[in-house]
Formats: sequence, C-alpha cells, structure tokens
Amino acid sequence: MNVAKRDERPLSEHDWHSPAYVDDWIRRDVTRDDTRRPLLHQMLMIAPFAAEADIKVLDIGAGYGVVSEQVLSIFPHAHLTLQDYSAPMFVYARNRLRWNSSQVCYVFSDLSDPEWTSGLQGPFDLIVSGLAIHNLREHSLMRSCYGSIYQLLQPGGVFLDYDLFGLVEGGTGTHRGWLREAGFERTDCTWEEPPLGIIAAWPRNLEIFRQYHNRRS
Ligand SMILES: C[S@@+](CC[C@H](N)C(=O)[O-])C[C@H]1O[C@@H](n2cnc3c(N)ncnc32)[C@H](O)[C@@H]1O
Repeated sequence: MNVAKRDERPLSEHDWHSPAYVDDWIRRDVTRDDTRRPLLHQMLMIAPFAAEADIKVLDIGAGYGVVSEQVLSIFPHAHLTLQDYSAPMFVYARNRLRWNSSQVCYVFSDLSDPEWTSGLQGPFDLIVSGLAIHNLREHSLMRSCYGSIYQLLQPGGVFLDYDLFGLVEGGTGTHRGWLREAGFERTDCTWEEPPLGIIAAWPRNLEIFRQYHNRRS
C-alpha cells in the first residue's frame, strides 16, 4: 500500500507527513477546541447505542485523536480503530489516548488507495470522521471512499461525518447524493455552517433513524 503518495503534493497544500507541519497545525487547531468539541458531542449523540455498549468504532483520518477521544468520553467501553496515513499525527494520538490503549488500535492507510480498508477488521457499528475526507479533493475518490465506508458498516450502524462539505459545488446536498449512490438508504444533515457541516448516514434500518429523531425531540 502506498501511504507516501501524497508527498508529491505542492508545498502550498497540507503536508501531513511532516512532523514540523503537523506540530504547527495542531498548535493552531487546538485553539478551535471550544467551538468544535460541542459540535462533535452533538454529532456523536446521534449514535443509537447505550453509553455502556461495547461497540466497534472506526475513526477515518483520525489525526491526533480528537474525535476518538470524544467517542470514548460518550462510549467508554468502545473499541476504536484509528485510521490515518500520517505518522506524526499518530504520535500525538497515541499520547492523547494512552489511558485507553487496550481499547485502541492504529491502522496506517491512504484513503486514495483502493486497498485502504484491507488492514481494517470490520464490520463496525459506528464510523466517524472529522475534517478528513475533503482532503481527497477529487470527487471520484470521495465517492469511492463513501462506497468503502458503506461496505465497512454493520447494517444497523451509522456513519457520522464532520467535514468541509462546502468545498464542492452543492455542498452537503452533493455529498448526501454521493452517500446514497454508495448505498446508504438514509442521510441527514444535522448541522451546517458552510463550508462546515455534519452529515449522518444510515445503511438501512428505519427503526434506528426513528430512535435518533425520538432522542432529539
Ligand atoms: C484536518 S486533519 C483532522 C484530524 C482529526 N480527524 C480531527 O478532527 O482533528 C486531517 C487528517 O486527515 C488525514 N488525511 C488526509 N488525507 C488522507 C489520506 N489520503 N489518507 C489518510 N489520511 C488522510 C491527515 O493525515 C490528517 O490527520
């Protein structure tokens, strides 16, 4: 699997493989914590599982583990797989999640590689992602990534994504269309402040969808 492919990107773009770049990015990113954490909490409350449930969770483009940490605060018995292609990001994630190390594993893969799921032990009850998939930029890669996510989910599971959907024309509407094309029966945009948004996608199971609406009301 070619996890170094993205080193060929122009310098003006993110360099997730550079320790210095990642150090600097995280230093700036933590200043957004106060606004982002409540949004992530709101997103994770959509997951239709009991707090004590022993669920299997995948965090795509997990980076330094912010979303995974929120998952563990809501589902303390969850088993998490963090997926990313950045070694410097995982140095930070391992440190952040060190108290839960028996519940956490790390998988390196490049989302633009058609084989990116081969090292993952699915299926998962819950798949989450934060500010990651838009990095693929190419529409065909994002669509194919959604297809793989659909394949990795339990039929009763849910995919929860906080991302910069507005970077493509049509924003969340376009992404929801791609998710339906990937096989998801139900999608919902639960929060939006373009270009940011939160999308929930259910492979099927309308009962789960109704539970989510009951919890909100
Ligand atoms: C903006 S950071 C977000 C990190 C984390 N999810 C968060 O919410 O703080 C984007 C993450 O996506 C990862 N990423 C970007 N492109 C990727 C790719 N093609 N394959 C795997 N990971 C990728 C980067 O390494 C980085 O950790």
